[in-house]
Amino acid sequence: MTGEGDPAPRCPALDPAGGALHAEAAALRARGPAVRVELPGGVPAWAATGHAAIQALAADPRVSRDYRHWPGAGQAPEGWVLAPFAFQDTFANTHGAEHRRARARIAPAFSPRRVELLRPQVQATADRLVGELAALPPGGRADLRQALALPLAMTVICDLFGVPEQLRGALGRAIDTMMDSSLSQADSLAAQAELGLRLSELLAHKRAVPAPDLTGDLLLSGGPDGRPMPEPELLGTLFAMVGAGYETAVNLITSAVLELLTHPGELAKVRAGETGWADVIEETLRVEGPVMYLPLRYALADIDLGGGVVIPAGDPVVLGFAAAGRDPERHPDRPEVFDPARPDKAHLAFGHGPHFCLGAHLARLEAGIALRTLFERLPDLALADPDRPPARIPSVIVNGPAALEVVPRPAA
Ligand code: HEM
Repeated sequence: MTGEGDPAPRCPALDPAGGALHAEAAALRARGPAVRVELPGGVPAWAATGHAAIQALAADPRVSRDYRHWPGAGQAPEGWVLAPFAFQDTFANTHGAEHRRARARIAPAFSPRRVELLRPQVQATADRLVGELAALPPGGRADLRQALALPLAMTVICDLFGVPEQLRGALGRAIDTMMDSSLSQADSLAAQAELGLRLSELLAHKRAVPAPDLTGDLLLSGGPDGRPMPEPELLGTLFAMVGAGYETAVNLITSAVLELLTHPGELAKVRAGETGWADVIEETLRVEGPVMYLPLRYALADIDLGGGVVIPAGDPVVLGFAAAGRDPERHPDRPEVFDPARPDKAHLAFGHGPHFCLGAHLARLEAGIALRTLFERLPDLALADPDRPPARIPSVIVNGPAALEVVPRPAA
């Protein structure tokens, strides 16, 4: 980033393995509203990690998500680990009127009313999965992420988009691998090829077996202007919707369970009806937002953030959505402490502005059902290794425990 002989220190590199996402974001926040960083793969960008700056940049019409607005796009390295996100052909990576048109077509499918209609089937899936946990012998262990959070969120989004059972496992694993921003260039290329294969398989199946689902209604029936969507856009949109639909909700559910099991006093308050499940969910979104940096945005003009910080036109930008909730300027009172009873739980976990998450209602519904069903049916649920914090997902994109070993029915 700095020129030869330039005395300024090299800009900090984000840890590709997301080792200490919150501490890293806090250090960046202390340096200003936006700071130059090196993304995994060595690509320079500006990172904003404070509540006010993220909100301002996410809502600024001079900030685009369209990679055609990135003059440096051609210099991104071959096999770049963040390429599947930055260069994804999907409405989420469009800007302005083009984005508004495409989003308006998809948004009704995720309205509160439509999402509420999914409640019985989400509940039935949660009942089945929690039933399997309850059937474990006393003292038996399970990974809550794999046993509940992931299959619940995956089932919901795959049912919506009509992903057949036999394709779900391999597609889910391919999307999971995409979240690992510590992959080597060779592994990243292999993972991108694998994802392409799985998405093509899915698309071929959907074309061969038309069905009344969101893939049929929204994607195969044509783009926002009525013309058939080109193949790359179909694949990109399927990746965006299925990926966004479960990687995030999985982390919300797993992180909420972890917070409750490590804060038994807070769990007791929920059981006593003093705090609600909705408070737990919002507080988890505030302290452990499931999405950190979702690449990328691009400045369309010089953007003055104050304090002498100007993002030059053409530069890429990442927003630390999960960092906003821990900003001490927004939450001066113990920002990093999980406290569902705090009156102000403001966060930007679902983003802000024109790209605000389309799945927010769905994610909240899934998490509410998962948590209530789990803790009601398994009142003695406990962490299997209470003294060992779980490993985190190796990612700068998503934030959550890689696994969460629990004992659903501790032995007496
Ligand atoms: C706890 C769960 C979730 C979190 C934390 C989350 C987070 C986010 C964030 C931060 C954004 C904004 C990205 C940006 O501005 O760069 C976003 C956008 C989006 N989310 Fe979610 N999401 C969640 C669940 C879901 C689900 C269940 C769906 C299912 C359909 C979904 C679909 C989308 C889509 C399609 C967009 C792009 C919207 C646009 O560009 O107009 N999300 N999400």
